Amino acid sequence: MNAPIRNLLSIADLDRAAIEQILELTESFAEVGERSIPKVPALRGKTIAWLFYEDSTRTRLSFETAAKRLSADTMNFSVGTSSVKKGESLRDTVNTIEAMGIDGVVVRHGDAGAPHRIAEWVDAAVVNAGDGWNQHPTQSLLDLYTARSRLGDLDGRHLVVVGDIKHSRVARSNVMAFTEMGARVTLVAPRTLLPADLDQWPVGVTHDLDSVIESADICYLLRMQLERQEQAYVPTLREFHTEWGLDTRRSAMLPDHALIMHPGPMNRGVEIDGLVADQPNSVMTQQVTNGVAVRMAVLYVLLGSGLDLVDQRLAVA
Ligand code: CP
Repeated sequence: MNAPIRNLLSIADLDRAAIEQILELTESFAEVGERSIPKVPALRGKTIAWLFYEDSTRTRLSFETAAKRLSADTMNFSVGTSSVKKGESLRDTVNTIEAMGIDGVVVRHGDAGAPHRIAEWVDAAVVNAGDGWNQHPTQSLLDLYTARSRLGDLDGRHLVVVGDIKHSRVARSNVMAFTEMGARVTLVAPRTLLPADLDQWPVGVTHDLDSVIESADICYLLRMQLERQEQAYVPTLREFHTEWGLDTRRSAMLPDHALIMHPGPMNRGVEIDGLVADQPNSVMTQQVTNGVAVRMAVLYVLLGSGLDLVDQRLAVA
């Protein structure tokens, strides 16, 4: 991909070469994070606004940390204390923020496609930090980076994604991202938690976790997205745990090298046993740590270098 990317709205905005370049750049920024003063002047003079219409712990704090490490200025916006409460529309809110002068906007919204609409309205670079059931591209990049740093090349690796696929933007992003990098993907869920358009997904599907767990290189768990479920999709959470949760018995069936991953937040005792979550092969903490460096790379590419200038990274880092 030679043309500089302007926004990151979907993992589909990146081909394999672009993903490789961002992951390579991430490695440089991970090194910055280990310094005694983990800060570089790469985005000095740039202003980035956070527009989070949905709750977040990891993504928001991670983007804020990334921006600070790049010396960018940030503009905080909280729906709960903003004029959204007085009925201001998304478009008017975005126009108001842009009028104050921003170079980038990081958006999380409950509606699929909201970041795409914002990208049509503003000149600033737009990063999708999660839109409804649709996409969470920076989660996928940090997942790829984490998996590669532990397993090496992902070509031919087997990613097993378990849980509430139907309501998961992470599942949609990760299926695209991992298949682009040469992995094969199997989805594991009860019939009720699989998407209606599954025949268009490049994946295998099973309802039986035990049948695929021994061949998994990565067992990727998803929480039940109760906030997006308008009806009961499983009889009880206890039953879900028994049938589809990663408990100690199933965890012992994983190959020795296999990783257990989760985008967070976890619900211990539902999709994952509490003991399993704390095992050495559970890499959720590394995912969070890597998220900062990945988001530094994404912000730098969109607001700073452009992908075609990645080779100049050492000059700024
Ligand atoms: N993985 C993730 O998006 O977590 P948050 O909802 O806490 O940002």
